Amino acid sequence: MKLYNLKDHTEQVSFAQAVKQGLGKHQGLFFPEDLPKFTADEINELLKLDFNTRSAKILSAFIGDEIEQSDLQRLVNNAFQFPAPVKAVEKDIGTLELYHGPTLAFKDFGGRFMAQALVQVAADKQITILTATSGDTGAAVAHAFYHLPNIRVVILYPEGKISPLQEKLFCTLGDNIHTIAIKSDFDACQTLVKQAFDDEELKTKIGLNSANSINISRLLAQICYYFEAFAQLTTSQREQLVISVPSGNFGDLTAGLLAKTMGLPIKRFIAATNANDTVPRYLDTGKWQPHATIATISNAMDVSQPNNWPRIEEIYRRESWALKSLAHGSVSDETTKKTVRELDEKGYLSEPHGAIAYRLLRDQLQEGEYGIFLGTAHPAKFKEVVEGILDKEIPLPKALAEREDMTLLSHYMDDNFTQLRNFLLTLDW
Ligand SMILES: Cc1ncc(COP(=O)(O)O)c(C=O)c1O
Repeated sequence: MKLYNLKDHTEQVSFAQAVKQGLGKHQGLFFPEDLPKFTADEINELLKLDFNTRSAKILSAFIGDEIEQSDLQRLVNNAFQFPAPVKAVEKDIGTLELYHGPTLAFKDFGGRFMAQALVQVAADKQITILTATSGDTGAAVAHAFYHLPNIRVVILYPEGKISPLQEKLFCTLGDNIHTIAIKSDFDACQTLVKQAFDDEELKTKIGLNSANSINISRLLAQICYYFEAFAQLTTSQREQLVISVPSGNFGDLTAGLLAKTMGLPIKRFIAATNANDTVPRYLDTGKWQPHATIATISNAMDVSQPNNWPRIEEIYRRESWALKSLAHGSVSDETTKKTVRELDEKGYLSEPHGAIAYRLLRDQLQEGEYGIFLGTAHPAKFKEVVEGILDKEIPLPKALAEREDMTLLSHYMDDNFTQLRNFLLTLDW
């Protein structure tokens, strides 16, 4: 597989390099040189396969001979160990539930495949992943790399500033997952991580690597669940399919569009945002004018400069699609709350991110079409918000409930780089 840097097309890398490097020169994103296509017959054959067998074939179409098919199948089997069911919500609307993995969010698919891919391409080299988290990313990274050979993960987080439940989710694992509570705020944690990456000696000695959220391996993995959704639909639902994607950094939508470039016949996508509506305004006016980021109840989508957007523009350019054909909209907190209530009355428990995608889908779906909105997180992940909106208790799913009484294994440290450096240099493998 060859990829080029969107900011400098002369920088070309292999899949292995793109996975290890994350970003190219000038912070440019990597984009596949070949966009593989399946014929309608090939798609029909793929849809008959089980999720993991099909996913390995989809990934292989991109990655090619850089990873043997049997190895790729093993990586997929290790990464995708939970289902992505489509549940009916209304006669003409279903939801693709992407939150049945260990950290209850869609990120488990991309994060776990990235971890597997990194181990594969690192070829027995020892790697230390260092990252800072304000809650969510830490859990996804920790669970994705847990127990993987030759990799250890060090996660910094601000002491007392993440929810107790979030802390339990990734600070109770042990083994190759090391968590450090820093006596300061999230920015201080991020600065410590940056200092470590600027320290060449430390970097080489411990094999420092980041688990970057814009890593191409994540996006490729996410393509697979669009095919999985399609496979669960009836023939008539497949014919007029509209998919609504709750969007922040626009990674999930990029993956959906890539599924379409491969030949999956999706009629239309809806780019659904909260009040951070840089993209919907851009699509309406042709002007890219990010505002200051606004805090909303769908906080994982509080992004005003979505970092995957250049990849979406590149897809439209490469496929000669009109950007105007991308349906879109933004939803206020007030409407989001009303929609969570509306869905609850229909017997479906949702949370703000998924509810935004449902709202725009319901409002824009036309006669004869079938719609799917992505359910990107379990309602219990946004327990306080959902309980506030619905005025009832949300039960904790097993993955969270079983960690509630476990002991925290974190180290505690001042906001001090020398202390962190010593810790990293003396950490046992
Ligand atoms: C629950 C949830 N929904 C939606 C999104 C938006 O996804 P993307 O950043 O790929 O657009 C996120 C991103 O973190 C999320 O956590």
